[in-house]
Amino acid sequence: MAGDMDDNVILVGFMGAGKSSVGRILAKRLGRCFVETDDMITAKEGSPIPEIFTAKGEPHFRALEDEAVRLLALKRGEVIATGGGLPCQDGRVEALQALGTVVWLSGDLATLCERALRSGDRPMLHGKTREEIETLYKSREPYYSKADVKVDTTTLNPDQVVAEVLKALRVRARPPHPALSPNGGEESNSE
Ligand code: S3P
Repeated sequence: MAGDMDDNVILVGFMGAGKSSVGRILAKRLGRCFVETDDMITAKEGSPIPEIFTAKGEPHFRALEDEAVRLLALKRGEVIATGGGLPCQDGRVEALQALGTVVWLSGDLATLCERALRSGDRPMLHGKTREEIETLYKSREPYYSKADVKVDTTTLNPDQVVAEVLKALRVRARPPHPALSPNGGEESNSE
């Protein structure tokens, strides 16, 4: 599907994009394992993400993300949901692309924030004004936009997003139409 069965499908996007819920459904639909970098981190540290931020600070959390990315190299054919800040450093999206197809779950910022505030505790949103969140989002967008596939989730529920992701992956996996090849689909006799 995403290239071949060894290829991972890696979901990126801002908090509230639905990476966890979409990833879980997508993995089920594809019959693949599902993994979240945030879960890898909490399992390793033995404490929830907000506690890691409070006790050890953001730089420590980002170092744990670096380590999680190194461990992702062992994954084959899985669906991987990343934390919202994980792809946002130079070379990171390219490193993820080496592991599979990177899918950006995008959306209107107000909608993403509303979802993020409704579900779970997001330390990166603590005490931030709307302007500060917008600045954070803008600083991240250039990284997300390097993804191989983009699905706008603004008006979609998780099942609908999964359907769009599957459609986009199928298009990518489809071999090019013969008429689009340089010799118009004719066999070459140039021996
Ligand atoms: C973060 C997003 C969170 C989690 C951590 C930091 C971020 O994941 O990794 O709180 O920097 O955007 P979600 O995107 O799943 O909320």
